[in-house]
Amino acid sequence: MSRTVFCAMAGVFALVAATAAIPLGSPAAAVSDSIVIGGQPAHVKDSPWVVALSSRDRFGETRAGQFCGGVVVAPKKVLTAAHCLNREALGVDVGELRDLRVISGRDVLRGTGGQEAPVQAAWSNPGFDPTTNAGDLAVLTLADALPAKSVIPMAESGDAAYEPGTGAVVYGWGDTTGNSDYASSLRSAEVSVLPDSLCRQAYPGGRDGTYDASAMLCAGELLGGHDACQGDSGGPLVARGRLIGLVSWGNGCARVGSPGVYTRISAAIGWMPGGS
Ligand code: ARG
Repeated sequence: MSRTVFCAMAGVFALVAATAAIPLGSPAAAVSDSIVIGGQPAHVKDSPWVVALSSRDRFGETRAGQFCGGVVVAPKKVLTAAHCLNREALGVDVGELRDLRVISGRDVLRGTGGQEAPVQAAWSNPGFDPTTNAGDLAVLTLADALPAKSVIPMAESGDAAYEPGTGAVVYGWGDTTGNSDYASSLRSAEVSVLPDSLCRQAYPGGRDGTYDASAMLCAGELLGGHDACQGDSGGPLVARGRLIGLVSWGNGCARVGSPGVYTRISAAIGWMPGGS
């Protein structure tokens, strides 16, 4: 068992480092069809609220600087994971990042479609606990409004979308195999919302992580095989057409008995800026 992986960016840093060391290498091109996370190609025309977070300064040009996912919850408001914006992930404080952008309306990262919107302000939950990952949420404010049709509603507490057994879909440009095979094109994977009892059992504390039902939800398949992975963090988990989670952490990816853990949106609506 490897240690719980809390963060996408370690892998992405490795990717950038590898690219820098071997300029001819193109690690981002490898996208296998038989992927561990059990996903399939997805398209922003069907899920216009999925966005990529980009900084070419930090993460290089190869995949348009993508390092995390995000989701549009108001024309000028994008949610992502707090851990995507911390110093450990970025190598600098988010305030020092000159070229933080939100890429929307684009399936293929290197493509030219859609738009790249500069981020006007970044708010990270001050209550985020980097040890447990509780409260893993940040809000980005865009200078210019995205179309209203790009906005996905957030599921409030008590919404049936949170019921265990509900089918949900997670989206991202992250690792498709667990071997740093970062997707060049948007993908999605079908998972089920799992009961808190099972999530607690999977992550009782200690090395594999601590599940906190008041701040998190977990989703996956009992036999593994479908999951988010590194690079997907901050991206949306959607059920019944509403946002229920943000990709946050997990023990490896798609492993039996180690579901993906997500920031529980209903828990954050009350305290996120402009949330209610
Ligand atoms: N922390 C990772 C990221 O920053 C996400 C890991 C999600 N892992 C999982 N097994 N669902 O991209």
